[in-house]
Amino acid sequence: MKHLLSVEDLGADGLDDMLRVTDSFVEVGERAIPKVPALRGKTVVSLFYEDSTRTRLSFETAAKRLSADTMNFSVSTSSVKKGESLRDTVETIEAMGVDAIIVRHSSSGVPWQVASWVDASVINAGDGWHEHPTQALLDCYTIRQARGSLEGLRIAIVGDIKHSRVARSDVLAFTLLGASVVLVAPPTLLPPSLEGWPVEVSHDLDEVVPKADVVYLLRMQKERMTEALLPSLREYTARYGLTVSRAAQLQESAIVMHPGPMNRGVEIAAEVADLPRSVITQQVRNGVAVRMAVLYMLLGSGVDLTHGSGTDRAA
Ligand code: CP
Repeated sequence: MKHLLSVEDLGADGLDDMLRVTDSFVEVGERAIPKVPALRGKTVVSLFYEDSTRTRLSFETAAKRLSADTMNFSVSTSSVKKGESLRDTVETIEAMGVDAIIVRHSSSGVPWQVASWVDASVINAGDGWHEHPTQALLDCYTIRQARGSLEGLRIAIVGDIKHSRVARSDVLAFTLLGASVVLVAPPTLLPPSLEGWPVEVSHDLDEVVPKADVVYLLRMQKERMTEALLPSLREYTARYGLTVSRAAQLQESAIVMHPGPMNRGVEIAAEVADLPRSVITQQVRNGVAVRMAVLYMLLGSGVDLTHGSGTDRAA
């Protein structure tokens, strides 16, 4: 596999392989010196056209722990501000000699475009509303860590599904690994069509919470909303927030997840985010090991993980 653009590129076997390799890098992260020479001599660049804390920093940490050289690109201090196009920017960076380009962009499909312009490996770090495959990998890894397997689990994804690339990648990954997914949202925060999505839909969080093994909350993505989709955040929280009283209805073994950044008091109560059953910090921690596995499998191992139905659309 040369690029990681979509969860579909991996398929169930590829996901399994990547999670297995992640185990090794979790072990590396626990060492006194959490560093291995696997990618010595390789150069990895982060090309983020959208803000990020977790994804950008964990990819940078992952690359450094693999002994790769890293380059960081910040739109606000680059020649993009002088009108340089995406293609010219990408080709300029590639001319400096890079082995992997990690791309985040507000437009869906940009990582596929970038992959068609360069010889380097391309990793999708989030494209518009479309996909965020490494988030899905770290979410699967975290669920496996907490529950042993995804097979047969009932996972509720709650909130702004319409604008969420995390929801799209998670639905693909969770169902490939044998979980069933229920989307819980007001009709205005669901995609106009769910044709082809292997999910159930509910508008009643109180009914879903006691039966769920995992409750996965999503933030209201106001930066992607072009119209008012809710009467008020207060009303949203009352109907769709994981409040303290709703969390009290969870099964003993159920876990609470969130990709971050959280809006405490809106989609999740501050107290619920800090419960022992909330694995949000573990998600972030696992993000480093998962991204080490992705970089290693693309740049260092020579193992082909392409088991998925997704095609290399850049080829
Ligand atoms: N979950 C996630 O993608 O977070 P960042 O936007 O901070 O990278």
